[in-house]
Amino acid sequence: MANRTVALVPAAGRGLRMGGTIPKQFLTLGGLPLLVHTLRVLEAEDAVHEIVLAVPEADRDFCLREIVTRHGFTKVKKIVAGGERRQDSVRHGLQAIGDSAEFVLVHDAVRPFLTREMIRRVLEQAAKHGAAVVAVPMRDTVKQVGADGLIQSTVDRQRLWLAQTPQAFRLSLLQEAHRKADLDGMHGTDDAQLVERLGHPVAVVDGSGENIKITRPEDLAIGEAILAARKGQPS
Ligand code: C5P
Repeated sequence: MANRTVALVPAAGRGLRMGGTIPKQFLTLGGLPLLVHTLRVLEAEDAVHEIVLAVPEADRDFCLREIVTRHGFTKVKKIVAGGERRQDSVRHGLQAIGDSAEFVLVHDAVRPFLTREMIRRVLEQAAKHGAAVVAVPMRDTVKQVGADGLIQSTVDRQRLWLAQTPQAFRLSLLQEAHRKADLDGMHGTDDAQLVERLGHPVAVVDGSGENIKITRPEDLAIGEAILAARKGQPS
């Protein structure tokens, strides 16, 4: 169990923002589903021992056949049904993991440009602090806007960061955070938020502008460009 890390990949979004009918994690980039790109990096990284996927209930067989078996992802041990919200999908994944690891690395299926170095750095910080996330500093000027469409104030961006995944946690800590959120009926948009509200520190590790989340049709074009620029480079 010591130092054992399970990667938990929420891939159960319906991707309605894409406007299509194919769930966005199955959309293709360079001719391969996003999920395949994401899993390749997790499969290649020695610090990840096992992978648990959460996909829409109706896609479990498809995912096992067309993604996991077809592409030979031997670390994928469980494919669970996702839930209504991302947080529910992660909770289902955590239930499947049980107590079989010391660390859990949560990574969104729709961020195919994570790197092995990112995984190692975030796990290193999680070993030190219990929780760590990959994030990038805010580069744009941030405005607070009223319901009337008028700017109320400019937020100091010096201390603002945009959280990405991977996010790594001591497994028992993330389990506790999800239990508490569930009990309180609290809904967060990432896992770190649930840990923060326990009052537990969460470390930040430098992410990358390339580690984009593919959620809108225009993101696919950016993704293709990143993929082309990376051709031949190690992940
Ligand atoms: O919804 P959002 O864009 O934040 O999705 C981030 C990740 O969470 C995606 O990989 C998506 O497939 C996953 N997700 C999920 N279950 C949901 C909603 C989103 O696993 N109910």
